Amino acid sequence: MTEIVPTGWTYASAPESREIVRIADRYGHFVGGEWLEAAETYETIAPRDEEVLAAVGQGTQADVDRAVAAARGAYADGWSSLPGSERAKYLFRIARLLQERSREFAVLESLNGGKPIKESRDVDLPLAAAHFFYYAGWADKLEYAFPNRRPKAIGVAGQIIPWNFPLLMLAWKIAPAIACGNTVVLKPAETTPLTALLFCDVLRQAELPAGVVNIVTGDGRTGAAIVEHEDVDKIAFTGSTEVGKAIQRELAGSGKKLTLELGGKAANIVFDDAALDQAVEGIVNGIYFNQGHVCCAGSRLFVQESVYEPLVAKLKRRLATLRVGDPLDKNTDVGAINSAAQLEKIRELVASGEEEGAEIYQPPCTLPEQGYWFAPTVFTNVAQSYRIAQEEIFGPVLSVLTFRTPDEAVEKANNTPYGLSAGVWTEKGSRILWMAQRLRAGVVWANTYNRFDPTSPFGGYKESGFGREGGRHGLEPYLDFEESEAFGG
Ligand code: NAI
Ligand code: MG
Repeated sequence: MTEIVPTGWTYASAPESREIVRIADRYGHFVGGEWLEAAETYETIAPRDEEVLAAVGQGTQADVDRAVAAARGAYADGWSSLPGSERAKYLFRIARLLQERSREFAVLESLNGGKPIKESRDVDLPLAAAHFFYYAGWADKLEYAFPNRRPKAIGVAGQIIPWNFPLLMLAWKIAPAIACGNTVVLKPAETTPLTALLFCDVLRQAELPAGVVNIVTGDGRTGAAIVEHEDVDKIAFTGSTEVGKAIQRELAGSGKKLTLELGGKAANIVFDDAALDQAVEGIVNGIYFNQGHVCCAGSRLFVQESVYEPLVAKLKRRLATLRVGDPLDKNTDVGAINSAAQLEKIRELVASGEEEGAEIYQPPCTLPEQGYWFAPTVFTNVAQSYRIAQEEIFGPVLSVLTFRTPDEAVEKANNTPYGLSAGVWTEKGSRILWMAQRLRAGVVWANTYNRFDPTSPFGGYKESGFGREGGRHGLEPYLDFEESEAFGG
């Protein structure tokens, strides 16, 4: 057999310096514009080598109570009644500060979360800033966004976010909330609190009024305290379907507004007329981007039978060129798995795939000894009933299945409890539209994958959740409406 990758091709390491980031030994909670000493703490680490980075607060009920009181105070004391054009100025400032400090944030994001620096630098940071710019633009135009509906702020929003895009999910949550005149209590995920804590310094620089944004760190117990708090008017959650369901049960009948952005098991569908090399790039980006820790990851690849063999050959060849390693190295394509728990989950599901009879392929690659790592993986010979075709793995693991006709592609793609995203690869515009109409997914990408833009709404069907983030749609969950008399208004 010929070698897949020529040997002797080596890269010199190109590490990004971490000197730009100053990490404190210990962090408290950011409440009412000040640092509140944390009564209990835990250690946050770097998944690339398990280095302890800082002690971080484990938010208690009392901490959450204080944060909600600060948010309520700021809401009542001017933020909600400030003219939209004034609120916008703060969002613009935050956006510009994120741009100015983007290298610092990117290094910290990669260090604490494990994602490659080229992704945090080129995707997470630019998009986080773009969300603040975008929603700054809406702050004084809410009346035009919803004509005759008299939009007004809701009150205090409790926001709980995951670890896969820590700063970006913070931006998705905070930007529309404060643009609409609400105040916020946000809890970052327990494994990735550091960029949210650095963001508090941006709030200070932007001179955002105290209490408009409060950050309380901690695990699910802290999250639950926010959800249950009776003075919180709205909950926005991104995370597992399991916790999403529990939150929905908890809030039933409470009158609190809720949006849920949960898991996914997206179909990436390649027709025989697609540009195969381009499709391979989209498949790789779809599932290996951010180690596959992506709710909309293209984790199920459906290939039309007639191009199955050439496509899988090209894919395996491309896989062998992916560089797995230090997240801070600018050459790295696939970084560290976010946590020991997530690595364990990936291993368990991959083992189930092998047991159930799928064929596994992993390119030759040496994984670092310390830290949490998993090689990019492709499964072929996958039946729809296998767990690797059904369950969200949230790791760099692709399951390849086949189809013959467009109808069969639709049926198989929709055969999942989820419905967050999908990809379609074909030369035919009419087929793209035909597919997009039938796929039960909040986002359908055509001849591309994992494209994000603040102007475009994102969200799910079925067990992927409800409510939209991004775009004009993303304002709606943060507003109450007084429907006015026809033409009176
Ligand atoms: P998780 O849903 O437990 O964590 C997400 C956030 O919710 C974190 O901030 C966590 O502290 C908080 N949380 C946990 N329990 C809570 C509760 N009872 N009340 C309120 N907040 C709570 O997700 P986890 O355990 O980190 O990951 C498990 C799986 O979930 C992953 O393997 C992946 O399949 C999926 N997941 C999906 C995400 C997405 O973007 N849709 C993000 C993270 C995980
Ligand atoms: Mg959990």
